[in-house]
Amino acid sequence: MNNKSIWITGASSGIGKALALKFAKEGWKVAISARRENLLNEISQSNENIMPFPLDVTDSEKCKNVFENIKNKIGEIDISVFCTGIHDPKSEKSLNLEKVKKIMEVNFFGTINSINSVYDYYKNRKSGHISIVSSVAGYRGLPAAGAYCASKSALSSFAESLYFDLKRFNIRVSLVSPGFIKTPMTDKNDFPMPMIKSPEFAADQMFKGLTKNKGFEIHFPKSFTSIMKVLKVTLKPNLVKVALLIATFSSCLNIQSSNETLIFLFLNGTSKSYLNLNADPY
Ligand SMILES: NC(=O)c1ccc[n+]([C@@H]2O[C@H](COP(=O)([O-])OP(=O)(O)OC[C@H]3O[C@@H](n4cnc5c(N)ncnc54)[C@H](OP(=O)(O)O)[C@@H]3O)[C@@H](O)[C@H]2O)c1
Repeated sequence: MNNKSIWITGASSGIGKALALKFAKEGWKVAISARRENLLNEISQSNENIMPFPLDVTDSEKCKNVFENIKNKIGEIDISVFCTGIHDPKSEKSLNLEKVKKIMEVNFFGTINSINSVYDYYKNRKSGHISIVSSVAGYRGLPAAGAYCASKSALSSFAESLYFDLKRFNIRVSLVSPGFIKTPMTDKNDFPMPMIKSPEFAADQMFKGLTKNKGFEIHFPKSFTSIMKVLKVTLKPNLVKVALLIATFSSCLNIQSSNETLIFLFLNGTSKSYLNLNADPY
């Protein structure tokens, strides 16, 4: 046991759950939040370092109350990791205003509510660390993922600004940009996901990035995120369309030997439903 503590939201499943178990194993006190209380209880019963604090992040007042509660029960919180997120691939196949609003409400505003609940605490304390879990989907718009990409892109930009604003108060802000990780969220995808990794892999990468390194962005797996970074800065939408066509072609030939092919396969996969729409936004 060390004397460090962390708060993790979105911790009832997937990446957040794996991260909570990793920190607890390393001797940290861990406060976990999400809506499904039964799952939080199960996780906390599996490790005495973990305590459940149920929360719906869309309720800004509740976020503040829960953080007060965590401090009362655990004491100082060294790191807050905001990992809440939703994705609804089916609803992205057409423009569904209600779903777009819902995704923004949880992924963007829910995370801002969470940041708001710890903002003054860290500012007054003049130390601490806020980590925001975004995605490589925030790097650029991808087919059939408009609302999700927009929510993550907004979050990544917010994190970039927050980094500057809080640095002078000695508060570290980090941005987490995972590639594909096998979780209940990605289990909903109906396309092949290149270089997909386990939640435990994500948790190991995040633990290292949060505790050992000092940089702004924690991204993994590097083999995939480096390709996405190239696409972010080099590809114009028209070239994305070409990539989609090549992807369809390479997928037909079942070529799977290089990173480039895998990214094409990914674009092909995500584009299947998009191409079915018979609409071409580019
Ligand atoms: N998996 C990937 O490939 C991948 C890649 C890049 C980024 N990410 C990001 O990583 C984060 C974790 O995703 P995941 O893949 O681990 O998915 P997941 O297993 O579905 O986890 C999502 C978590 O968010 C919680 N959540 C959803 N709505 C909430 C709300 N209104 N209030 C509080 N908690 C809420 C869920 O718990 P409850 O339902 O119990 O509330 C759950 O614990 C997300 O931000 C996601 O966008 C994932």
